[in-house]
Amino acid sequence: MGTGSGKGKAILFGEHFVVYGYPALAAGISSVTTAKLTRVRSFGHTLVDNRPAMPDYKKTKYEEQKASLENILKHLNIDTTKMGFQIDLEGDLVCASGIGASAASCVAIVRALNDEFKLGLNDEQVNEAAYEGEKGYHGTPSGLDNTASTYGGLVWFERDLSGGPPKFERLNLKKAIHLVIASTGITASTKTVVGAVKIKKEADPKWWDDISEKYNLLVHEGKNALIQLDLQKVGELMNRNHQLLQELTVSCEELDNLVKVARANGAIGAKMTGTGRGGNMIALAPDESTAKKIAASLEKAKAAGVWITSFGL
Ligand code: MEV
Repeated sequence: MGTGSGKGKAILFGEHFVVYGYPALAAGISSVTTAKLTRVRSFGHTLVDNRPAMPDYKKTKYEEQKASLENILKHLNIDTTKMGFQIDLEGDLVCASGIGASAASCVAIVRALNDEFKLGLNDEQVNEAAYEGEKGYHGTPSGLDNTASTYGGLVWFERDLSGGPPKFERLNLKKAIHLVIASTGITASTKTVVGAVKIKKEADPKWWDDISEKYNLLVHEGKNALIQLDLQKVGELMNRNHQLLQELTVSCEELDNLVKVARANGAIGAKMTGTGRGGNMIALAPDESTAKKIAASLEKAKAAGVWITSFGL
């Protein structure tokens, strides 16, 4: 039996802008997806998905998940016409848009295949194969999600637009930072939302250049503020990043409402995270007890799921 796991993630800065080569900062969270591969007597492969998930998540992603697995098998040269296996997905990562669930499952599956078939892949190669899997979910993934899922920790990431390997750096902070994650319960299609941003960008290149330049300044300030543990500044920049994402039209009423509730209940800053138009938001908390207070307020505001986590160490 082969096993593997991949971490969930929260994008602190940079969803959508990262697709076009701007840097992003993402934090691996402690929740994981696990994959268990068992050989069977019949030929072919089956995927049994037992992950906890938001309603509709699995149904919405079903076809993309199938395409993703085929991409991974092709990339790793695994032919199931003459042998067979079953992959069981489990773990404590609750599948919702924005938490890196697709990337975590790709990484877990690649690691389980690596384990069972003794492929000898190192993390870099696991990450490459998971990236191929991510292409099944949307045609032009930046690679940020699979990188955060493979390595965990706090990752500064830049996509190479000419197709070369991405540049990334792991940042270690002197202290863990508390984060509250809340879900709208709405499953978004990354392919659709990334496509909508592309249409807007192509329709108005001047608007795109202005907004992405504002973002570029912001993410560099964000990196410095995080390293200096200047949480007030990080929070202010998260709020500004949320505003830019609203201008990209990737936020929505449900996300904006959860962001507002978090800010009114002690969050230093809050923003949507990941694809948007549903999915999750994140709130930066000054300490653990405030994180609990923010989480309680988000539950009261009918968030579909609320999690407290930390990152940086
Ligand atoms: C999705 O988690 C993040 C996006 O920026 C897409 C990507 O990076 O591939 C929206």
